[in-house]
This record gives sequence, C-alpha cells and structure tokens, in this order.
Amino acid sequence: MPDVFPVPETMRARALCSSHASYQAMYEASISDPESFWREQASRIDWMEPFHTVKDVSYASDNVSIQWYLGGKTNASLNCLDRHLATRGDQTALIFEPDEPSDEARHITYGELHADVCRIANVLKKHGVKRGDCVTIYLPMIPEAVASMLACSRIGAVHSVVFAGFSPDALAHRMLDGRSRILITADEGVRGGKRIPLKNNSDRALRSCPDVHDVLVVKRTGGETTWLDGRDYWLHEEAAMVESTCECAEMDAEDPLYILYTSGSTGRPKGLVHTTGGYLVYASLSHRYIFDYQEGDVYWCAADIGWVTGHTYIVYGPLLNGATQILFEGIPTYPEASRYWDVVDRHRVTQFYTAPTAIRALMSKGNKYVDRTDRSSLLILGSVGEPINPEAWKWYHEKVGDGRCPIVDTWWQTETGGILITPLPGATALKPGSASFPFFGIRPEILDAEGNVLEGEAEGVLAIADSWPGQSRTIFGDHARFTEVYFSKFEGKYFTGDGCRRDKDGYYWITGRVDDVINISGHRMGTAEVESALVEHNDVAEAAVVGFPHDIKGQGIYCYVTLNAGVTGDDELRETLIRQVREAIGAFSKPDFVQFAPGLPKTRSGKIMRRILRKIAADDFDDLGDISTLADESVVDDLIRNRRNRH
Ligand code: PRX
Repeated sequence: MPDVFPVPETMRARALCSSHASYQAMYEASISDPESFWREQASRIDWMEPFHTVKDVSYASDNVSIQWYLGGKTNASLNCLDRHLATRGDQTALIFEPDEPSDEARHITYGELHADVCRIANVLKKHGVKRGDCVTIYLPMIPEAVASMLACSRIGAVHSVVFAGFSPDALAHRMLDGRSRILITADEGVRGGKRIPLKNNSDRALRSCPDVHDVLVVKRTGGETTWLDGRDYWLHEEAAMVESTCECAEMDAEDPLYILYTSGSTGRPKGLVHTTGGYLVYASLSHRYIFDYQEGDVYWCAADIGWVTGHTYIVYGPLLNGATQILFEGIPTYPEASRYWDVVDRHRVTQFYTAPTAIRALMSKGNKYVDRTDRSSLLILGSVGEPINPEAWKWYHEKVGDGRCPIVDTWWQTETGGILITPLPGATALKPGSASFPFFGIRPEILDAEGNVLEGEAEGVLAIADSWPGQSRTIFGDHARFTEVYFSKFEGKYFTGDGCRRDKDGYYWITGRVDDVINISGHRMGTAEVESALVEHNDVAEAAVVGFPHDIKGQGIYCYVTLNAGVTGDDELRETLIRQVREAIGAFSKPDFVQFAPGLPKTRSGKIMRRILRKIAADDFDDLGDISTLADESVVDDLIRNRRNRH
C-alpha cells in the first residue's frame, strides 16, 4: 500500500477547501487571530441578539471558565429548522430507513420536521417542562428522536440522550444525575430484526427515580408494554392535541443545550455540558468543511444519536447546514452484510461516516457483499471513534470507495463537541491511520510526562493549548471534577487523555488512551465502571479490568476477579458475572473474558499495576517490564499460568 494517497482531482474540483495551501492559509488565520476568525464564522448561524464579545476563556486550574459569543441570543431549533423553511420547506431533511428493508423509507421534509418538533415542544410545555429543565431521551434511531432533541432546544430545555443500548440501571443513574423529571421513550426499539423492550427497561429504571412524573412514549411497534396511568402518555396522542407551531425561546449563547454522559477513568459516567451558540457554530463549520457538504448531496452518518457523533453529525451539524441525510434504524449486518451499501445505492448517498469496528466487522464477512453493490454515488468516506488499522483503512478505501473516495479519519471526543483533528477531503493527502492535521482554530500540542511541549517529530500525550467554540463547558453539577480531569494535569491546557505522535511531515497519529478508559467498538468505557459492577457480587473480593486487542471490536474487556476465601471459580460463576456487568451497563459492555485471580499484582502501597495485567491479557508475557516494585512477585507467575490455561 502506498504511504500517501493524493487528493483525487475530482474531489479537488468540487471541494470548498481544495488545496493544502488554502487549508494552511485558513488555519494560520484562525490561529493568529482567533477572535476575528470566530467572529466571522459566527455568521453561519442566525442570532436573535448579536454577541458583544467573541471569547472569554480561562484554562487556569484555579478558575476554569469557558465562554463564547457572550451576550448573543439564539436558538438551536430556529437555526436547524425555521430559517430554512422559506427556501427548503419542501426539501427532504431526513430519509428514515427502517430496520426492515422491505418497509419503505420515509422522507421527512424540513417543513414536516418543523411541525413535528413544534408539536413535541408544545407537548413538553403542557407536561410542565420549563426552560433549563433536563429532559431524558431514551429512544432508538427513529425520526422522533431527532424531533425530540430539537423540541427541547426550541423551548430552552436541556436534553440528555441515553443510548438505547444502555441498561435500566445506567438509564436510572443518568436520570437521577441530571435531575430529570420527564422521560421520552418508545414502546420498543427494532434493530437487526430484534425488538428491544425500551418501555419495560424504562419502567425498571423508574423504580429508582421517584421524581420522574411523566413519561412520553413513542409507539414504534405497538408491542405489549407495562403502563402506569397518570404517568405514561402516548406521544402521538398528546401531539394530536396541540398546535403545530411553537415559538423559539431566546437562549443565551452560553445556556446549556444538552448533557451527554461519557465514561472516564474513575467513578460514574460524567454528564458533559454543551452550550448553545459556540457549539452550533462549530458543528456547522466542521460539518461543512470536513464532509464537504454541498447542495444536492445525500449525507449519512451511521452513528447512533445516543453518542456525541449522533448529536453533532446527525442532528445539529447537518440540519444547521440544510442537509438531506439518512437516518438508519438498523445494523450493518441485517438482513445481510451488504445492508449499508444497499442503502447507499438506494438513496444515492454521497458522504458516508462510520466507525472502524463496523468496517472490520463487514470486512470479515468477505468481499461478495460489497462487490454486488454499485456505490458509485459515494464521494467521501469518514471514520470516527477509534484508531483505524491500515488493513481496515485499505479495505474501506479500495473496496467500499473503489479507490476513489478520500477517507476523513476524524479525531475528537464527547468533550470536544466536534472534530478537532482531521483531513479535509479536497485538501489533504492521506496517510492511512493518521487523523492528519488540526481543524481551524485548534492548537494541538504533544507533551512529555512533565508537560514540556515537544516540537517536530515527537510522541507523547495530546493536549490542546487554546479553546474553541464547540468545547464542553463543565460536568453537570461538578465543575471541580471537570477542572480536575481536564485542566489540572498540564496547567493552562486541555488534556485529552489520548496519546499521540507527530511525524516528520506534521501529520498527527492518535495512539489510543493513556488512562483507564477502553474503547469497545468505538464505545468508550471506564474500566472502573465494569469493576464496580463485578464487585457487587457477593462472592467477589476484588476486580481489575483492562482492555486487550480484539480483531473486530478494537478492544475487548478482560476481567481479573479475586474471589472471597472459600469460593471456587467455575464457568457458572463466570457467566453470572458477565451477566451482572451486562445488566449494570448494557449489552455492549459484556466482558469477553473473566479470569479468576487468587491475587492481583500490587505495589507495596497497594496500587494495582494494570500495565502488567494488560500485557498478560494480550498474551504478551515476555516483556512485563520492571516488576521489582510489586509486593508479591509470585502473583504474576500465577496469573500467567492461569492465562495460558485459559482459567
Ligand atoms: O481515544 C480517542 C478515541 O475515542 C475517544 C473519544 O471517545 P468518545 O468521547 O466516545 O467520542 C467518540 C466519537 C467522537 C478519544 O479520546 N477516538 C475518537 N476518534 C478517533 C479516536 N482514536 C483514534 N482515531 C480517531 N479518529
């Protein structure tokens, strides 16, 4: 495979940014005079009142405060919908592609989506939702999910979307933490021909959420569910009783737009808060340039709205830019592994954005599923969520894109709100596996362990030296934690938690997390969360969880479990523990392996040396590094023996 793939001429001819030199010029301008750059970009959205100050940011660890477009008033729903109505009222906003391919796709215009959003907004008001209230949304990939998010923003409520794959426990935690008093869910979700009992899950979660007074239920399947009169309402019945217009609340640029939970190294998932004005500007700008979205394109981001990718690159970015896009309910392998490409052909998709795990899963099914499809409409491919290995990159490029489509390998995080490091399709020669260059306004730095800035070719941890408008402002209810996690390690900088290398040509290569966060199929998981689910079992004394390389998922979950004295580990207990984690978090968090460990490798001060556990889980026994600081070195031999015997 060549080391560098030049920009295809056809892409250069159409792209908004069509040479590396023009990228560099715009990048330099954004860095040398950020205020002017971001002042100009702010005109991407409509303001109800102009802002008076572009930026007021302190990254100082004793006073982290991030504000953009101060004094400005705007509304997300207004920008995603109302301002398009005159020109795009009859243009398709969403093409809903249901799980079952024989069910016809549904085209929803901007005008229709506007009416749906207004109705849901009026229903929320009728059910007592006020500006600033948190509304939890636990929905599958259906149009009502998008409409519910926009309905919240329309009336100034803050949405907290919980991925529909999360368990009742995980849902309950998020509702309690966000102090939600209202939930929007569906009777059932449908994925890959299977039904997911969302309402029943919700009811289980609600047992521990006494403050939730109203539940609005979308009728997706009509399947049987539990029901509590006086608390539960069918959304379609409620929506039929209200007006199809609703005024947009005038929101301050810094009013919260949403909370989204994500895992960290320690403790429970944290609710990151994104605000209104800056986030919208960043979502619009990044979507426009990185996917080179143009009139007539049909864009498809195959993420789930339960994750940040769905928030920024399904809901906000594309709708701000007046895009026509696919909303896909299903999974890539149902009914067959050609599903993605069938959908691409049917709707003439131009941009397609997914995670490496999906690419690897499809690659493992063989080429015939790709070869029998056309895919000639595709122009740009995207990758997100984890490092993409060269083999998967090559397959995506050669097989899916017929060698014709640039791949934008986009690096970002829930915290960053939008893509920070990425190629631009018409400007960047690609190196497979590299996220390449910083987006406009982004100042990445590679630091050594002491925080020294490394120049030129270097490897270290990735920090960002200055703010950008899409950045998360705080952790809901816990600003001290926000400061501690992101701004205390390297004074005056945002610490990403990722390792990174810069090569001689200035390309950035993300090397993966440097903390105790693992990345399962592009889903971020704190090892501490899995550990706490394991130790809840009466027979478990202690648990340590690490990631290990996994062919399809990128990383798998490997659990070392020490049992209480007198308890013997067997397959039944192993299954019970796996089930326990699944129930505590969700099916995607199911451990791949549980190893019973009589002892864990600890330093004399009692700290578990995860470095050693990671090596053993990866069958890499030869170079365990320095183990002389362990309290009991013999523990390591036992662990290796048991790993070899798969005990
Ligand atoms: O480790 C990085 C990895 O995913 C983490 C962020 O996860 P999350 O907040 O769930 O957001 C995922 C979708 C934006 C990062 O810290 N990551 C994300 N994109 C890439 C990546 N690693 C390598 N290459 C990427 N393109």
